[in-house]
Amino acid sequence: MAVVTQQPLSTTVEKVQYNSGPIKIRNLMDTQEDCSFYGRLSTEAFRDKVIHATKESSIPKVIEYTTMTSRGRPQELYDRIFVAEYDGVHAGLCSIAYHGDKEKFPERANDVVPNFDCCDLCGLLCLDMATVEKNVPVGNCYIEVICVDDKFRGKGIGKVLMDVVETDAKNHYCKAMYLWVVSTNRAVNLYSRQGYVITGNKTCCLKCMLGVKKASRMEKPL
Ligand SMILES: CC(C)(COP(=O)(O)OP(=O)(O)OC[C@H]1O[C@@H](n2cnc3c(N)ncnc32)[C@H](O)[C@@H]1OP(=O)(O)O)[C@@H](O)C(=O)NCCC(=O)NCCS
Repeated sequence: MAVVTQQPLSTTVEKVQYNSGPIKIRNLMDTQEDCSFYGRLSTEAFRDKVIHATKESSIPKVIEYTTMTSRGRPQELYDRIFVAEYDGVHAGLCSIAYHGDKEKFPERANDVVPNFDCCDLCGLLCLDMATVEKNVPVGNCYIEVICVDDKFRGKGIGKVLMDVVETDAKNHYCKAMYLWVVSTNRAVNLYSRQGYVITGNKTCCLKCMLGVKKASRMEKPL
């Protein structure tokens, strides 16, 4: 009798991109542990902006929604999200986007939105308008989110995440990387050290949409 063994889904196989000393960088996997971490950290690291868009009591719903929408996605989407572990503990993440990704990974109609009130929904729409890059130019790689749990900041994890996504962009034949950062954010120091320079600023509507005055576009030619 033939024995059929079930193959693991590729989205739950570990894809390690970097492993040296305490820091390991791998792609996000479609597991509850990874996706909950993604939902929690990508919300908590930008807590002020999420609270500006909604309110403190809505944070758990935003985490729940972000976690849910990261489950059951195509492998390529997990290839865009990198998780950092420090001594085996989830510590940071970075997500990137290439030209055409918005169409490749559309929102799913059957994702149930938690019962946000209409003020939260308006705020989240504004947050989305202000932060989501609708059209990444051909040959560019956009750093969508980079964040490290505050317990692990200043240990070089952010730098390694940036190096890993840069290698990925080169493998995709990109000519440039770019990101947007709030101009007063200390992270500008990290980006400058990594070779990014400011190529533009925006101020319009940011106070309303994000609660900040100015954001800068930073770019690194590859
Ligand atoms: C920015 C961030 C990803 C860097 O990760 P990290 O592992 O701490 O970075 P590294 O240890 O490799 O490098 C240290 C640099 O990170 C940045 N950094 C450290 N703590 C930070 C903090 N609380 N907020 C913002 N940037 C910080 C600084 O640029 C620092 O360099 P400096 O000491 O010369 O100012 C991380 O600090 C973070 O998640 N911050 C909060 C979320 C955020 O602001 N993300 C960037 C949005 S564009």
